[in-house]
Amino acid sequence: MSANQLVKPAILTLVLLLLLSYGVGNSRSTIPDNSTDMLSLLDFKHAIDYPAGALSSWTPSKPHCQWEGVNCSKKHPGRVTELRLDGLDLAGPIFPSIGNLTFLESLNLSKNSFSGGLPPLNRLHRLQSLLLSYNSLEGVIPDTIANCSNLKDLDLSFNSLKGEIPRDIGLLQNLSSLVLSRNYLTGTIPTSLKNLTLLNVLILADNQLTGNIPDELGKLNNLLVLLIGGNGLSGGIAMFNHSSLLFLDLSINTLGNELPHDIGDRLPNLQVLLLSLNKFQGHIPASLGNIAGLEQLELADNNFTGQVPWATLGH
Ligand SMILES: *[C@@H]1O[C@H](CO)[C@@H](O)[C@H](O)[C@H]1NC(C)=O
Ligand SMILES: *[C@@H]1O[C@H](CO)[C@@H](O)[C@H](O)[C@H]1NC(C)=O
Ligand SMILES: *[C@@H]1O[C@H](CO)[C@@H](O)[C@H](O)[C@H]1NC(C)=O
Ligand SMILES: *[C@@H]1O[C@H](CO)[C@@H](O)[C@H](O)[C@H]1NC(C)=O
Ligand SMILES: *[C@@H]1O[C@H](CO)[C@@H](O)[C@H](O)[C@H]1NC(C)=O
Ligand SMILES: *[C@@H]1O[C@H](CO)[C@@H](O)[C@H](O)[C@H]1NC(C)=O
Ligand SMILES: *[C@@H]1O[C@H](CO)[C@@H](O)[C@H](O)[C@H]1NC(C)=O
Ligand SMILES: *[C@@H]1O[C@H](CO)[C@@H](O)[C@H](O)[C@H]1NC(C)=O
Ligand SMILES: *[C@@H]1O[C@H](CO)[C@@H](O)[C@H](O)[C@H]1NC(C)=O
Repeated sequence: MSANQLVKPAILTLVLLLLLSYGVGNSRSTIPDNSTDMLSLLDFKHAIDYPAGALSSWTPSKPHCQWEGVNCSKKHPGRVTELRLDGLDLAGPIFPSIGNLTFLESLNLSKNSFSGGLPPLNRLHRLQSLLLSYNSLEGVIPDTIANCSNLKDLDLSFNSLKGEIPRDIGLLQNLSSLVLSRNYLTGTIPTSLKNLTLLNVLILADNQLTGNIPDELGKLNNLLVLLIGGNGLSGGIAMFNHSSLLFLDLSINTLGNELPHDIGDRLPNLQVLLLSLNKFQGHIPASLGNIAGLEQLELADNNFTGQVPWATLGH
């Protein structure tokens, strides 16, 4: 048993006694809201493994709003609004008590070794930024993600998540960046994404997604980055009409059919277009030459026929 585990019951008992005496003396037997967050953070700390010296400020003798990586609300004293513990070599589960930090706006646990499932999300209504990339998280993305209705930035990339992308993600109307790449996600790209009209960045690359690219993605007029390479997507790419799009990666799928002849006019601002390792057929459209700012074009390993339109591409 580690020193950590031995200390835990003592600290919890102390905290509970303090809180109980507060509650009893107060006729309300509920714990004051601004102390539940400290308890939640201590429970979180005691469930994980951390390098010696890390989280040393996380002790009950110091106000939790002054702990490393913790910021609190100005209006609601003691309520945690930000928890940022990225790149600290933390391991173990994200203890469910994190789901009780109901004032949380920003959670960044990226670049650690957290394992197990995502924390409960259904009470995190104020969350705007949920960044858990580069960990070893498993399980599915729960439908309760939809309860985080203020979410703007969701990054769960480089984990081991499986199952489908929840349809209800289409309810997160404020989402501007959705990054789920490098997991084991299956099923289709939800058509509900069409609701996310503020999306700038959609990265679903390197999963096991199948089915067509939904035409509905064509409605995302603010999209700058669309990376969905490295999946098992099939069908054609008729829907693209994105004057905003800068980066488009569809490579390493089983997409086929002919490219729209006017693809270069539909995607006028592209800088990077990656279509290699698919099954595209027919002629390489000369309209690609109309994309003035194109810096990188990859078409290799397809089934194109005819001539490369060097005259237009060679500018
Ligand atoms: C907390 O607030 C301070 C001051 O506004 C800021 O410098 C810091 O980056 C914030 N975040 C964390 C996790 O401390
Ligand atoms: C909790 O709230 C009370 C009353 O608003 C305040 O006096 C106390 O300092 C707060 N505790 C923390 C840890 O912010
Ligand atoms: C979250 O952590 C990542 C990885 O360390 C860092 O690059 C990023 O700036 C952080 N973002 C926020 C909002 O804390
Ligand atoms: C979250 O809070 C609820 C009630 O406030 C409590 O019953 C529950 O035990 C807490 N969960 C965790 C994991 O701390
Ligand atoms: C979470 O969202 C579901 C529907 O999306 C709703 O029924 C439920 O009441 C919400 N829960 C909370 C705690 O807000
Ligand atoms: C979305 O963002 C707007 C503007 O920042 C805000 O007023 C609104 O409450 C947010 N949440 C939802 C669910 O629309
Ligand atoms: C799209 O958003 C509306 C609310 O504006 C909601 O009623 C509808 O269910 C959403 N559709 C999907 C597919 O998420
Ligand atoms: C796509 O753009 C082309 C050329 O600008 C236009 O003719 C066509 O109507 C657009 N299609 C859709 C579905 O917006
Ligand atoms: C490639 O195209 C040729 C001619 O259109 C066709 O006969 C062949 O079956 C195609 N190969 C694949 C792998 O799609």
